[in-house]
Amino acid sequence: MTSTTPHPTPLRTLGSSGPAVSALGLGCMGMSALYGESDRAESLATIHAALDAGITLLDTGDFYGMGHNEMLIGEALRTAPAGAGERALVSVKFGALRTLDGGFSGYDGRPAAVKNFAAYSLQRLGVDHIDIYRLSRVDPDVPIEETVGAMADLVRSGHVRHIGLSEAGAASIRRAAATAPISDLQIEYSLISRSIEAEILPTLRELGIGMTAYGVLSRGLISGHWTPDRRLAANDFRSASPRFSAENLQHNLALVETLRDMADAKGVTVAQLAIAWVLSRGEDIVPLVGARTRGRLDESLGALDVSLDADELAAIEKAVPPGSAAGERYPAVQMEHLDSEK
Ligand SMILES: NC(=O)c1ccc[n+]([C@@H]2O[C@H](COP(=O)([O-])OP(=O)(O)OC[C@H]3O[C@@H](n4cnc5c(N)ncnc54)[C@H](OP(=O)(O)O)[C@@H]3O)[C@@H](O)[C@H]2O)c1
Repeated sequence: MTSTTPHPTPLRTLGSSGPAVSALGLGCMGMSALYGESDRAESLATIHAALDAGITLLDTGDFYGMGHNEMLIGEALRTAPAGAGERALVSVKFGALRTLDGGFSGYDGRPAAVKNFAAYSLQRLGVDHIDIYRLSRVDPDVPIEETVGAMADLVRSGHVRHIGLSEAGAASIRRAAATAPISDLQIEYSLISRSIEAEILPTLRELGIGMTAYGVLSRGLISGHWTPDRRLAANDFRSASPRFSAENLQHNLALVETLRDMADAKGVTVAQLAIAWVLSRGEDIVPLVGARTRGRLDESLGALDVSLDADELAAIEKAVPPGSAAGERYPAVQMEHLDSEK
């Protein structure tokens, strides 16, 4: 699944050691988990449409639907039109531990566990290598050198092409990069999640590591489509997310309305404005969009045609300054697992 043929979507390179990928990636998590019901046929059609549009980066995790998401992507790649599946690069996160009732019970970054996770992922995806293999959360009980050392073994054996991190803090990023080349850090970054700007982003740039940004629409909150009357299933991540809670939602949606005024004036949608803002933050940043339907995908792709001038960027900055959202980006128990927030 190495990119070989030219395609129309612009490319960005993930750090000094990583691959060139499309400027937008498709995050497939919501097709299997955490955002309520999804439609399998529409998920497959959305992945195919993304490949057809030139998206070459598909993001997943072995714990998204406990293997469901990898099998879905494997099927999409096998059934894609000739050539499209081969051009796709798959980024796989590992390390999260699940319980029998579908809960999460911690993380495992031990070297033997890393290789075990990888063996299962290769089987579920139906591929002979993983393009970017990514530690989903730093395991506080295992030195990161040991975890990344095991990932480097997988690169040497040909089972993995590139090593990625997720939600790691600056100190861990430095230790990981001293152990093996790191292509990119995956981390939440959006108009309302900007804590990486102080230390993490400068560290990535100093070390020549790229970034794949998730939650660029803050899980739908700043997409312009969210309405306060939306009912969420108990297993929807957002039903426990502080930013969607009754006491914070009104404040956060008021921020979205200021973005809507700007988007309307420019003739784009709120989601396109929010994605274009992340794209404008640097050529080293690749936003992952969580589109689950072809309609949402089309809207996201439109962001590639939106350029924001200095006055527009200043107006956005004024309307939604750093720290303006109400509520943390994860529930307290999950914030505890974020090395990036320590
Ligand atoms: N490393 C990590 O810790 C981590 C954490 C979370 C996610 N991720 C990765 O990042 C990917 C993206 O994250 P995310 O899904 O939270 O991001 P997101 O793009 O901020 O949110 C996706 C949600 O936004 C809604 N939406 C509304 N308009 C949209 C549009 N035009 N395009 C796309 N979505 C739109 C979707 O709604 P509907 O489908 O309901 O209409 C979906 O529920 C995930 O799929 C996953 O691969 C990584």
